Amino acid sequence: MIDIDTEYLLRRYNKIILMWINEQDKDKSLDLKTLQDQLTQFILRYEQYVTTERVSVEKYFNFLEQTPYPILKDALSAGQFESKAWLREELLANLGPKKLGQTLILGGWVGLLGPILFQRESELGIERIFSMDKDPNCTRYADLLNTPWLIQDWKYKAFCADATQIDYSHLIATTTQLIDNERKEIDFEIDPLDTIINTSCEHFPLESWLSSVKKGTLLILQSNNFHEHPEHTSTHKDLESFQKDANLSKVIYAAEKALPKYKRFLLIGQK
Ligand SMILES: C[S@@+](CC[C@H](N)C(=O)[O-])C[C@H]1O[C@@H](n2cnc3c(N)ncnc32)[C@H](O)[C@@H]1O
Repeated sequence: MIDIDTEYLLRRYNKIILMWINEQDKDKSLDLKTLQDQLTQFILRYEQYVTTERVSVEKYFNFLEQTPYPILKDALSAGQFESKAWLREELLANLGPKKLGQTLILGGWVGLLGPILFQRESELGIERIFSMDKDPNCTRYADLLNTPWLIQDWKYKAFCADATQIDYSHLIATTTQLIDNERKEIDFEIDPLDTIINTSCEHFPLESWLSSVKKGTLLILQSNNFHEHPEHTSTHKDLESFQKDANLSKVIYAAEKALPKYKRFLLIGQK
């Protein structure tokens, strides 16, 4: 059970519920009980898949307070936590002595994969995780959700970019920083990548970004056959066609998971 018995967290919990009620479009308003159940589930899932450690849970509340409810509802669904935990468990079971090292996540959205992977940081051999998304709002959400690692000299950092327009052999990213009380844009260089993770393969074609990735790079890819979703422009009909498009020089793991509406595919291997 979630530990929100202290007055401090209970106050913050109630504040979030109040914000959600005020945010709602009157026609589509959800009742109080539904919102409370949702928030409780978001916290329970974090505790189940990430940590129950009090300091982290309090930082997670910052993310919950500052991210709009419609985004949280999709990004913190049971399926989102489960699919990312599936990826982590298969890495732990199949990577052997290989390490993630310097890692880039494409289409990283609100950054949920970060905390789930960092929970097993040393076993996975994580050096740093960068997360990029073409939606500029995602930088703020992902940095907030990953604050415990962001503040460790950028062990985690999100940035905004279009994955299909990047030269992966020489990565320069842009972010903003507070300099002399003014928010300024700064460029930073990302060291050569050991690993690229893309759990959003159904959103943009593999060939649009894979060509400049160095041979031998560890690739961890998820796609699905949920063709009906309007933003899914690059789905795959089955695991075989996904594997064929990815054209890995070495396959470490390939599997599919049947979900109520569609199948999700997971591929781990080397370019
Ligand atoms: C709905 S989310 C994540 C879905 C994925 N199945 C998952 O569970 O991680 C897809 C993300 O991909 C991002 N995206 C789509 N096209 C992109 C591109 N060309 N470059 C970077 N990010 C992109 C979107 O902005 C969005 O945040």
